[in-house]
Amino acid sequence: MGVPFFDIHYNLNESTRARILKRWEDILAHGRFVNGPEIEELEGSLADFLGVPHVVGCSNGSDALVLALRAAGVTPCSEVIVPTFTFFASAGAVARIGCTPVFADIDPETFLLCPDSAASLVTKRTAAVMPVHLYGRAVDIPSLRAKVDAVAGRKVAIVEDAAQAVGAVDAAGPCGGLGEAAGFSCFPTKNLGATGDAGFATTTDADRAARMRALRQHGGGRQYYHDEVGYNFRMSCLQAASLLEHLPHLVEWNAARATGAEHYEQLFRESGIAEVVLPERVPGHVYHQYVVRTPRRAELQAWLGEHGVGSAVYYPLPLHLQPCFAELGGEVGQLPHAERAAEEVLALPIYPGASAEQRQDVVAVISAFYAQQPATSS
Ligand SMILES: Cc1ncc(COP(=O)(O)O)c(C=O)c1O
Repeated sequence: MGVPFFDIHYNLNESTRARILKRWEDILAHGRFVNGPEIEELEGSLADFLGVPHVVGCSNGSDALVLALRAAGVTPCSEVIVPTFTFFASAGAVARIGCTPVFADIDPETFLLCPDSAASLVTKRTAAVMPVHLYGRAVDIPSLRAKVDAVAGRKVAIVEDAAQAVGAVDAAGPCGGLGEAAGFSCFPTKNLGATGDAGFATTTDADRAARMRALRQHGGGRQYYHDEVGYNFRMSCLQAASLLEHLPHLVEWNAARATGAEHYEQLFRESGIAEVVLPERVPGHVYHQYVVRTPRRAELQAWLGEHGVGSAVYYPLPLHLQPCFAELGGEVGQLPHAERAAEEVLALPIYPGASAEQRQDVVAVISAFYAQQPATSS
């Protein structure tokens, strides 16, 4: 028995490889390696897919967040409220534009930014809040916005970190169209993964989109004329080509992840394992990760490894306790829900290529762990 945590080849079968290679040959033939026609084609296809009018392709998800923050009007020396329980890049993007990340706690049920915690951290210097659609579950942005704006007494920009949430939707609309701007990642393991680094920023506002396009190319709308200092955040045409071939499969892949989540829930229910808390299943969730929690995470993960089952921890150390943010004064105990989650979360295989039999194997191995090491003996 063996169940990998992830296998990239689910999205690279023979016919997909052939179509990607054909597109790459076309790029070699037309020779417009940078800013070639694939970029605009991808941006249009993504806008249609997401239902968000403006998509700006770029180098990766981390850079997409920088574009989104700046296009949302965040200026240096201000504060941006970020959940402490997220991938580093959420806060990294804030620090990279000369702002201070202010870390908020999460809701322990959803792992998402806690609106009350965020609202309690608002100051005069708060320029934006960055909710993270963690694991592919959409944050309720209208509720968050209402709480934050009520405390601030003004409109505070919302910049979505949608890196893990391509195709996710909330009752209020699609991720990427809920705030002032958003950043997505197409890192190869993401729900829409490229064959290298890639990402894109989105917005519903045409002026912000124009600013993102300018910032992506050194801050100028016209070549060699620069209105502000930007970056080289362009997306490779080779990556745009891969993404154009993957995008038509995304609905099917996201559905396979949701089916996997439903199946896990059934298997855990049948197995009667009491110590593992499952993620709530909600409409619009795209299950970038299927994350359970258990107080005996380290032992269970070691057991899974010994029995050939892959698993992963997203994320073991909240950002307010990271060494690089030590000068911000974060302390153990400050954001207890996030700190506890960091000790208890465990992601199980959920990628679209994982079969029903493999999920049965995963839950059988977990069942055996709790049968051999019941809670009372711990
Ligand atoms: C929540 C979150 N934000 C930002 C990023 C950054 O994306 P990238 O790796 O494409 O730069 C990631 C990628 O893992 C992520 O998971």
